[in-house]
Amino acid sequence: HPPLRVAVLGCGVVGTEVVRRLVTEGDELAARAGARLELVGVAVRSLDVERDPVVDRALLTTDAESLVEKADVVVELMGGIEPARTLVLRAVEHGASVVTANKALLAQDGPALYDAADAAGVDLYFEAAVAGAIPIVRPVRESLAGDTVLRVLGIVNGTTNYVLDSMTTEGLGLEEAVTEAQALGYAEADPTADVEGYDAAAKAAILASLAFHTRVALADVDRVGITALTADDVTWAGRTGHVLKLLAVAERARTAEGRDGVLVRVQPTLVPSDHPLAGVRQAFNAVFVEAEAAGELMFYGRGAGGAPTASAVLGDLVSVVRHRVLGGKGPVESSHADLPVLDGGEARSRY
Ligand code: HSE
Repeated sequence: HPPLRVAVLGCGVVGTEVVRRLVTEGDELAARAGARLELVGVAVRSLDVERDPVVDRALLTTDAESLVEKADVVVELMGGIEPARTLVLRAVEHGASVVTANKALLAQDGPALYDAADAAGVDLYFEAAVAGAIPIVRPVRESLAGDTVLRVLGIVNGTTNYVLDSMTTEGLGLEEAVTEAQALGYAEADPTADVEGYDAAAKAAILASLAFHTRVALADVDRVGITALTADDVTWAGRTGHVLKLLAVAERARTAEGRDGVLVRVQPTLVPSDHPLAGVRQAFNAVFVEAEAAGELMFYGRGAGGAPTASAVLGDLVSVVRHRVLGGKGPVESSHADLPVLDGGEARSRY
């Protein structure tokens, strides 16, 4: 098969790692994907930034639009809504497959983007958008497509898990722990998205949409962050046999009038110490799924950081290239169920 042209948009922690792997493991990736991957450019905001030498300066461009038009596969790692949204749509309209890690974009505009990719007959893959290295998008989207998901409970933000864990085990203060998480490369550029729960809420919206075959947007998620938590809260949790975790919860629920729907929220939660989620330490993530036939499942691993997130991005890249080589396409985003998002006030959660 002739080589496929790959454009990478964004060259931060994850982008740099993806470029490194493309450069150093090109042969292996080509063997797995069924075609050579030719990196045709890396779009950046500014050329005047010191970068890892693995990123060839000749590949850098600030003209992301022109780069997208030259590509067969676009890997979007810029984050944020614009210009990522316009570029992803342009890529799809040009017939390029897209791999993205952009949870904010998918949580806000996912349905429009899935529809555009579907209409163009190309893949839009986003395993890295939820819980980094952990395979959770494919299992929920594909492996569980024959089951009925009842509930999804997730620790999907590494920064806040790191912070809560440090407060619990080392007595660290909130700010000190956030600074550490930033230094380790886990936190968002602006950690407000982490500590206020927006990052987890975006992931909750994506997971809920997949799990319940419906459309849940960021604005539908009830959200409470961790900024109001004190050392006393953490200590009290421990004394009562619990661990405080920022949980993303999406579950089937029913209102008093018998209306079925989905409840989606992110909030600090007292998790019983013997629940598998209580043992998720440091910046690790985990997603606990309850399905009617499968029962309980748990997916655990590194949810943030350059190499783990790049692992998910490259897995998607191999998949979408395989599909191009074979002349097929991955799953279409189904939202046939149309379960409404219920208000937490009208339907009760079981947790
Ligand atoms: N800031 C996010 C986290 C990065 O801490 O989990 C991964 O989305």
